[in-house]
Amino acid sequence: MTNNPTGISIKDLLHMKQQNQKIACLTAYDASFSQLLDEQGIDVILVGDSLGMVIQGKNTTLPVTLDDMVYHSRCVISGSKNACVVCDLPFMSYATPQQAATSSARIMQKGGAHMVKLEGGRNRAETIHHLVGQGIPVCGHLGLTPQSIHQIGGFHFQGKDENSANTILDDAKILQQAGVSLLVLECIPSDLATKISHSLTIPTIGIGAGSGCDGQVLVLYDMLGISPGKRPKFSHNFLAENGDINAAVKKYIEAVRSGDFPNSNHIHN
Ligand code: KIV
Repeated sequence: MTNNPTGISIKDLLHMKQQNQKIACLTAYDASFSQLLDEQGIDVILVGDSLGMVIQGKNTTLPVTLDDMVYHSRCVISGSKNACVVCDLPFMSYATPQQAATSSARIMQKGGAHMVKLEGGRNRAETIHHLVGQGIPVCGHLGLTPQSIHQIGGFHFQGKDENSANTILDDAKILQQAGVSLLVLECIPSDLATKISHSLTIPTIGIGAGSGCDGQVLVLYDMLGISPGKRPKFSHNFLAENGDINAAVKKYIEAVRSGDFPNSNHIHN
């Protein structure tokens, strides 16, 4: 397993926020892409449970299993050297703090990931506190949380009214207090994401959340224009303009770091 005490750590990510340096993140699910991303200088690779949709061809992330995540994390870790590798805890693998610890142990020991990600707000605070107490770095995920698709009623934009926006802001503060090192904000209004990012000391990573976050993430297959179905409007096909995959990834990283991506063309659905 290729892994790096000298690679990008949670301390480095925190330092980047403090220095106003944007964090570039993409998803990857295999060794070839993770090596390519790493060689282009990506900061964070997310082994997202979006693999259920873009790799397995399912219409939600719910069927993805812990075994799937461990397998893909191991593949990604085999290819990457320097990036911080974050791996999703899949649906129902973290229903209790104890189950979350057992699942995270598999993801870190067998999958080799450096951090786990879980979806949800204040209801996850106890779990996060428990994981962090065991030395497991945790990334939170607020806004559109695809594992709750059947509760939400679709892949809908979140936090549009004042009440729900305040709930997301409060949840973000609670997650930070519980110990998350990183926070993904998905499909929420840009001004809300900016406010959250300014309110927290930990870095935020946005997707469909405007340019005010401390970093950005896209699903790799969306930014290469090869996702099945419709590409989300907040994404961008970097391959179309840049000719090859290396150049597309390089351009994405540059565009995130310079603040060119996202811009007003990348509105939410
Ligand atoms: O699963 C995933 O790829 C994700 C990103 C969309 C943030 O959670």
